[in-house]
Amino acid sequence: MTSETVRLTQTVKGAGCAAKLSPGELDRALCGLDLPVDPNLLVGLDRADDAGVYRVSDDLALVQTIDFFPPMVDDPYSFGQIAAANALSDVYAMGGTPKTAMNIVAFPAKTMDISVLRLVIEGGLDKMREAGVVLVGGHTVEDSELKYGLSVTGYIHPDRILTKRNLQCGDCLVLTKPIGTGIVATAIKAGLAGRGVTDRVTRAMATLNRAAALVMRDFPVHACTDITGFGFLGHLAEMVVDSGHGVRIRGADVPIYPEALEWAAMGLIPAGAYNNRSFRGPFVDFAPEVARSVQDLLFDPQTSGGLLIAVSADAAERLVDALRANGVEAAVIVGEVVAEPVERIIVE
Ligand code: CO
Ligand code: CO
Ligand code: CO
Repeated sequence: MTSETVRLTQTVKGAGCAAKLSPGELDRALCGLDLPVDPNLLVGLDRADDAGVYRVSDDLALVQTIDFFPPMVDDPYSFGQIAAANALSDVYAMGGTPKTAMNIVAFPAKTMDISVLRLVIEGGLDKMREAGVVLVGGHTVEDSELKYGLSVTGYIHPDRILTKRNLQCGDCLVLTKPIGTGIVATAIKAGLAGRGVTDRVTRAMATLNRAAALVMRDFPVHACTDITGFGFLGHLAEMVVDSGHGVRIRGADVPIYPEALEWAAMGLIPAGAYNNRSFRGPFVDFAPEVARSVQDLLFDPQTSGGLLIAVSADAAERLVDALRANGVEAAVIVGEVVAEPVERIIVE
């Protein structure tokens, strides 16, 4: 298969972040293991966060993260862009500035033309350039399926780390990209998605969270994460667990790709959405008027999704205005942090 004839989604089993090992399985693999202890490890594996943070000096820490996955779109160049944007996103979600990256590649050299790999890497390089990130190396293995991503290192001030923790009562929750990329990717793979929706969602997945991250630096933000494989509610649950607070979400305010809603109603839902629901569903109470298709979308595994930002209520409208003025057009307030019920997510 050459770069002209190949449809990448037909060559792989999983798609994008939906190919993640399920959260329950990961927990079972890590639980009870002897994890490293180091006073300079400011954010490590003991509390699931977007990236690890290691203090180098009083005013510098390294932010490190890795993400790679099989293609969720057919076009090799777009896949490279999306994989890079997705990998860089975890540094942005921590409030960091990505600096260097390494390619990580699995490639089916026996069945796929090497020109495909060239386009994938070119897409990744273009996103790194846009992010001001320098490629310093990489590692490639031959495999039965194409997979691509980056290991990224960034800088952050040790006092300005944003984690999933630290929700404050009354905070507003702001989301910066629409939901539904997992269902759209399922439709692309099934040959059901037209050119219009494919292009729109591809562009959104390839969009860096850089502008959103730069804008939020000027606001009283208390916590942040990016929405990827565990879905909107899965990642929100990570913020809510052990927070001592609850969250109220207005389902109708969460931006959703309209086509994804139609496909969800038809039952075109990736397996990852069911995994996410069975892992985090017990933390969520849906009001009876929230349609099953909307519930499914809120658990849909996202690839290169937006940031979910907890910001002081009195600054939330200004943050949304500033995000939109800087090209983050989908930014919207989707809910707020409440005192009760503790550690529950209410979707109305
Ligand atoms: Co993340
Ligand atoms: Co990640
Ligand atoms: Co190597």
